[in-house]
Amino acid sequence: MSSTSSAPPWKVRRLPAADGRVFLVTGGNAGIGYFAAEQLSATGATVVLGCRDLARAEVATASIRARVPGARVRTVRLDLADLSSLDAAVESLGERHLDAVVHNAGVALDASRRQVTGDGHELMFGTNHLGHFALTRSLMPLLSAAPAARVVTVGSFAAKSERLDLDDLQSRRDYRPKRAYGRSKLAQMYFGFELERRLRAAGSTVASVVVHPGGALDSLTPSRPPFHVRTAGARWGAAPAAVLLQGKHAGAWPVVRAVLDPAVRGGELWGPRVFGLRGEPRREPVWNHLAEPSVAARLWDASCGLTGAGLNATGWGAVR
Ligand SMILES: NC(=O)c1ccc[n+]([C@@H]2O[C@H](COP(=O)([O-])OP(=O)(O)OC[C@H]3O[C@@H](n4cnc5c(N)ncnc54)[C@H](OP(=O)(O)O)[C@@H]3O)[C@@H](O)[C@H]2O)c1
Repeated sequence: MSSTSSAPPWKVRRLPAADGRVFLVTGGNAGIGYFAAEQLSATGATVVLGCRDLARAEVATASIRARVPGARVRTVRLDLADLSSLDAAVESLGERHLDAVVHNAGVALDASRRQVTGDGHELMFGTNHLGHFALTRSLMPLLSAAPAARVVTVGSFAAKSERLDLDDLQSRRDYRPKRAYGRSKLAQMYFGFELERRLRAAGSTVASVVVHPGGALDSLTPSRPPFHVRTAGARWGAAPAAVLLQGKHAGAWPVVRAVLDPAVRGGELWGPRVFGLRGEPRREPVWNHLAEPSVAARLWDASCGLTGAGLNATGWGAVR
């Protein structure tokens, strides 16, 4: 499926100007988030990197400034694993409106021991899903103050084969790290689609779009010293993988398109063109299991409870 708009074809290396707009990218100091921030900075927009480590964030902003002359890029401290810190992080943005937030930051664990956030939530569900859920609520007044803001949630191909266990969202029983990661990304994607339904029902100007980056490897990613250096050995070693996968610069393309392309609509899913794993961004049919509003609604209610969100008639106090 592709965009049905009669607008000129989207060019990942020739982006429209976005002067005057303000974008927040969570986890913008590394990987896909860094490349999304670098590409968005080249449009003239103000790009804020929301990062838990300000020293790493400053290294990333220096890299963007070195590559994008005149880049309007800055940082705020943002730790998605600490829900009580998010209101202060939003306050420290110092903006009167926000045109897009990219829910990019993510943690993927391998160890077999289940870990929890300081709030006691399973670390991947707590950071990837609950952190962004609570952040969205805190950001809603700023998003609503922009003419047509977007919430862009970065899901994962790994969520395609997963199903949520609504009775065990925190993976307390039979913890398996890969499954818990896939479910945390699935929860994020359910959230993105449910948010869109609630925004439309509330007559909001904000739209919610879900994207996934395909398979993006550091070894296929161009160097950005000092925080990412790809050696010649890694480059040659990864060459066979490039048949199916891509670098994180390309993994950022669906994100950037979802932020900037006026033809992209709320409730859409965007990912890479080739097998959903690599290539230029294209619109995908929403995966069957994601089109289950009852699951999404139950996850939403549970997430409100776990993050301490207050409910009103629209289901979320700050959405308007
Ligand atoms: N790479 C892929 O193939 C792939 C595939 C599907 C989906 N994704 C998704 O794409 C997104 C980016 O992936 P990536 O490969 O670029 O990951 P990455 O290189 O590991 O970067 C992850 C980013 O998230 C940040 N982060 C982690 N925990 C955080 C927290 N508590 N608060 C704030 N920031 C936090 C990290 O900050 P620190 O530097 O401080 O750790 C880092 O900036 C993730 O949501 C991931 O699930 C990636």
